[in-house]
Parts: sequence; structure tokens; C-alpha cells
Amino acid sequence: MEIKTVQNIDSTEVLVINKFEGEKTSQELVNTFVVEKDNFEGKFGQTYLIHTLGKISADKILVVGFGKREEFDHNKMREAVAKAIKKLNQIKAKKAIFDFDVNCDYGKSATLGAMIADYAYDKYKSEKVHHLDEISFTKFSEEDVEEGKIFGEAMKFTRDLANTPAQIATPAKLAEIAQNIEGVETRIFEKPEIERMGMGAYLAVGQGSVNPPKFIHMKYTGLNPKKRIAIIGKGICFDSGGLDLKPAASMLTMKDDMSGASCVLGVMQALTKLKPELEVHGIIAACENMPSGASYKPGDILTAKNGKTIEVDNTDAEGRLTLADALCYACELGVDEVIDIATLTGACMVALGTVASGIMGNSEELISKLISTAKDSGEIYWQMPMFKEYFDSLKSDIADMKNTGSRYGGASAAGLFLKEFVTDNVKWAHIDIAGTAYLEKPQKEFIAGATGAGVRTLLNYLSK
Ligand code: BES
Ligand code: MN
Ligand code: ZN
Repeated sequence: MEIKTVQNIDSTEVLVINKFEGEKTSQELVNTFVVEKDNFEGKFGQTYLIHTLGKISADKILVVGFGKREEFDHNKMREAVAKAIKKLNQIKAKKAIFDFDVNCDYGKSATLGAMIADYAYDKYKSEKVHHLDEISFTKFSEEDVEEGKIFGEAMKFTRDLANTPAQIATPAKLAEIAQNIEGVETRIFEKPEIERMGMGAYLAVGQGSVNPPKFIHMKYTGLNPKKRIAIIGKGICFDSGGLDLKPAASMLTMKDDMSGASCVLGVMQALTKLKPELEVHGIIAACENMPSGASYKPGDILTAKNGKTIEVDNTDAEGRLTLADALCYACELGVDEVIDIATLTGACMVALGTVASGIMGNSEELISKLISTAKDSGEIYWQMPMFKEYFDSLKSDIADMKNTGSRYGGASAAGLFLKEFVTDNVKWAHIDIAGTAYLEKPQKEFIAGATGAGVRTLLNYLSK
């Protein structure tokens, strides 16, 4: 779908306009039908389709309810455009012009809404999903629409990758994708180098798979970088649970256990277009968690990059082991901030459902900045506590810690585990997207499957 800006409304297939509750629309024809005859109120998200029968230069008019004018904001714009796109695709429209009666600064949110809603993962379907060919916005600036497109493309990139079956999206594939991102310096560490770096926790997780691990380090350098930031994505290309094998129903969606890595890749490729004045490191410790004769075992003791030892309590708590070494590596780069994003715990999903991602860390300042950026971006981040008592269940008799303990407070315990691998002088935030990265059924503007969780928030955080 092509997205453009236009000055004038030429004849088009569908003219999309809005109606605020209690107000008339910009089209006399519509006011006659909708307000006087059909009593369409313009409640938020409602749509109303009119066949114009040649009375104006568009074949159809789609009216979108914007709700109360005083409650309207960027998040509402994104959702409203998404609703309109779904409706337009449903009636198999090819071309539409959006002429909204709002001020001119909604271009980015409108564009992003259109791209989120137009998304389909039909690569492996013989029958393809219908897409609009072209939409145009009046009033909005080209720059805002272009920025929206960069965000939209980043989300699509991330969603496509996270939706890709694990047979294709292997650690080697993630490495290849990272190497193909233009404008970032990428270094891939192979198994012998990972061994040399002393990443014993990460290596243990990957050792049961025939597909070798790939440690990926991307670096974006903007002009006059004002800050140095590392973003780390959990990159478990498939999480079978390992020898502590998951039951079938829980394993079903575990190709998505590299959603954090997909987010980091999507963000890194978009940064080269947004060009913020920052140095950003994208880090992924990619591997597969598989059962085999070579797998790591419950009871094994692993030594992470910072020398701390971990007794394996459960091989299915693998994400934190890979992140432990990635966090050590990031801290050694001497960056100011580290943000990790991970489909880390079922417990976080139990606590927050599919609506909000959990956030924790060692810097209230960084956490609250990310929470407010998420809110402005249309995501919800909810802070989980980091009381030191949550670490009690991770205490081991024979090593510095175990990788799991009690089922209770699982998201927080995982956060405290990760904290053991973060240097105190580095500001760190951990985002748990276990519930939000992959939907089993459609939700708001999203179809089922990967959502691109984290992409918009991290991009806004890194580019503003
Ligand atoms: N990848 C899972 C977490 C997950 C669960 C993500 C559901 C998305 C949806 C993680 O590696 C895992 O298996 N966690 C275990 C930890 C447990 C063994 C302490 C869990 O949450 O059950
Ligand atoms: Mn697991
Ligand atoms: Zn996992």
C-alpha cells in the first residue's frame, strides 16, 4: 500500500472523512444522510459507508467516528485510521483519500495506524489477503507521513520476522539479516569466539541444538552522539523448553521467542533512516533451546561472562541465561544505558495479560521515561516490583544462584536474576513482552500473531 499526501481532492474511489460526536461533518451530503436520516453518532471507532451514486466525485464516502473532540489524541487517530483501513480492505477498495477535519500534526499517527492495520502475514497462503493500492492524506505534512512510514515499516519488519517459522528464522538467519542492514556496523561472533568471551550461560542454552549459536553485535553511530545506549533482544529462535520440555500447547507459539531480537533488528534498521544523534548498540545472543544428547541439564553449573555461577534449576528458564551474558557484554562496552526486551516469563503474561508489557530495572528515571514514551506511542508498560526478597527463591546451595525458584512472582524474580549481570553504574531497564509480543487472537488494530511490541516505543525513545 502506497501512502501519499495530497493538496486537493481529485475524484477517488473512497473519500474517508471523520465525524466528531455531536458535530456535523465537512460533507453536506453526509450530514443529510447520517445526521438527519440514519442517526450515526460518530462514537469513537464506528464506521459508516455511503454510496454517493455520483452526487460527489467519490464513489463512496466512509465516515469514521472520532468520538468527543476534546478526547481526541494521537492514539485515537492511529486507532481510527486503523478501523477505516480494515473497513476499506473488507469492501476491497483499491484507492482512498483521507480528508480529516483535524489540525495538521496527525500525519505520523495516521500513517502508522494505516500500516499496522494493513499488515497481513500471508506469505505462505495461496490466496493472498486484499490490500489497498494507495491511500492519500490531505492536510498532513510529508515529513510527518514519512516518519510514520519509517515506524510502520519497522513494525512490519519486526512482525514479519517474529511470525517467521523457526525452521527459517534460525540464529544464522538472524545474523544474516543483521549483516544486511545498511548503515550499521555488524559483527557476528561464532561459537569458538563466544567460548573465548566466557559466555558460559548463553552457550549452555544453545548446546542442545544442531543450529549453532550466533552472537550478534550491531552498532549505529549518529553524528555527534550525545549518549551511548545498548538495546538487547532475547533471541531464542525456538524455545522447546529443553530437557524440561514444554507441554505441546505451551510450545506451539515458541517460534516467537525471538520477538525481542526481532524488535532490536527492526529498530536498528529504522535508526539508519531516522538518524538520531546517538550511538546505539543492538545486541542479540541468538540460539535455540532444544532437547538432545548434547543439551544442558538440570543441576549443571554454568559460569557467566562476569564470573558468577548459576545452578540450572530448569532448562526452560533459558532466556535469562542468554540475557545474562548479553548484559555483561553490553555493560563492558561502557554505555550509559542498557535496555533489554524479552519474551521472558509466562508469569508476566499471567500478571498483565496481553495488554501491557512489564518493566523493571535499576533506574527509576529510565523506567519512567520509557513508561511515558510507551504511553505516547500507543503501548502500555507497567512497572513490576524489584523487592530483593524475590531473590530468596533463587538462592542455591552450591552456586551463586539458581536460574529459577518459586512460581510466584516469576516476572520479578527474573528481573532480579538479570540484575546480577548489570554493572551498577549503568542505567538499565528490562521490558518483559511475553504477553504482548504475540497475540493468539486479534486485539485492537492488530491481527493475531506478532505485534512488533517495543518497536514504536524504542524508536520514539531513541529518536526524540
Ligand atoms: N519463553 C518463555 C516465556 C514465555 C511464556 C513467553 C509464554 C511467551 C509466552 C520462557 O523461556 C519460559 O519458558 N519461561 C518459563 C520460566 C519458568 C521455567 C520459571 C515460564 O514462564 O514458564
Ligand atoms: Mn523457556
Ligand atoms: Zn523462552
